[in-house]
Amino acid sequence: MKIKITKSPTSRISEVNFADLPFGRNFADHMFVCDYDNGEWHSPRIEPFHNFSLHPATMALHYGQAIFEGMKASKTHDGVPMLFRPERHAHRMNISAHRMCMPEFPEDLFVEALSKLVAIDQAWIPEEEGSALYIRPTMIATDEFIGVKPSQSYKFFIFTGPVGPYYPKPVRLWAETEYIRAAQGGTGFAKAAGNYAGALYPAKLAQDRGFDQLLWLDAKEFKYIQESGTMNVFFVINGVTITPPLTGGTILDGVTRDSILEILRSEGKPVAEHAISIDEIVQAHKDGTLQEAFGAGTAAVVSHVSEIGYRDLLMTLPPVSERKIGTHVKAMIDGMRAGVIEDKWGWTVPVAVEELV
Ligand SMILES: Cc1ncc(COP(=O)(O)O)c(C=O)c1O
Repeated sequence: MKIKITKSPTSRISEVNFADLPFGRNFADHMFVCDYDNGEWHSPRIEPFHNFSLHPATMALHYGQAIFEGMKASKTHDGVPMLFRPERHAHRMNISAHRMCMPEFPEDLFVEALSKLVAIDQAWIPEEEGSALYIRPTMIATDEFIGVKPSQSYKFFIFTGPVGPYYPKPVRLWAETEYIRAAQGGTGFAKAAGNYAGALYPAKLAQDRGFDQLLWLDAKEFKYIQESGTMNVFFVINGVTITPPLTGGTILDGVTRDSILEILRSEGKPVAEHAISIDEIVQAHKDGTLQEAFGAGTAAVVSHVSEIGYRDLLMTLPPVSERKIGTHVKAMIDGMRAGVIEDKWGWTVPVAVEELV
């Protein structure tokens, strides 16, 4: 399918203060849109960024058939726009689509669309180190119908927006023992909009208690650690980097998680994907063997965890200056994206800008 391109006659870029880019508030000039009707995707197009007009009975608004992805384009030090593992995001979008009874979107078209979109709006990629163009591919059900069943029509769209450097402060996590994010058989592994809505209330309660985010525990026993906010979690205990496994379908298969595991394995560092209970964390903290805990996700790459609250315990972790693993993997991924560290996996995909200008 050929992507039809209609460029915006004007740009809003001069209205944006690139010295102050709060996350999620500024949007670039163009967006990609594609529609699904009668069993097929059609009319892929890049257009000036615009609002949609939606019928009040649009099914996504009622029954939650809505999925998305989150990724970033950055510029290398010599100005080449780069995507990071775009085909993995395209694939994960389809895993989410399958679970939510939505049509798969062709993965090659996904990557082509976002490459073209980023190329057209390349002036919107902030240059300052650590800043990026955030990319939000989304799919929603668009049938105008009241009644619980899969929609017959869908809209897939991608929009982008510049975000400033993210210097995450170490986070305080609350291990949640009353509410759950995901249960086996549920939708935890999908990037489905409803997963985030369900997390808002317990996260607010934890924030009221002074924590930044939740550390989710399993739905059966409130024992095994799942993930945190919009991050997968890693612990370093006695020199071994451990992260919960994907089995059970209760956590998102994070692109950052996978990249970190690959990097550490390639360096021969001990890593383990296995179920890890909150009791093991409590014990390791008592023994002094809990060296690091960090969250991993596209937004910050790595967010160090400073404290974990669990029932009446508050566990304080070693200072960030002693966090070798989290600091190292963040530097590796940031370095590959900036083009200053060799990417031997081919994760960074340069965007071909010349074909469009
Ligand atoms: C629930 C959840 N877990 C983990 C992640 C981290 O995934 P990734 O590294 O692909 O950004 C995200 C962010 O997309 C998320 O929303």
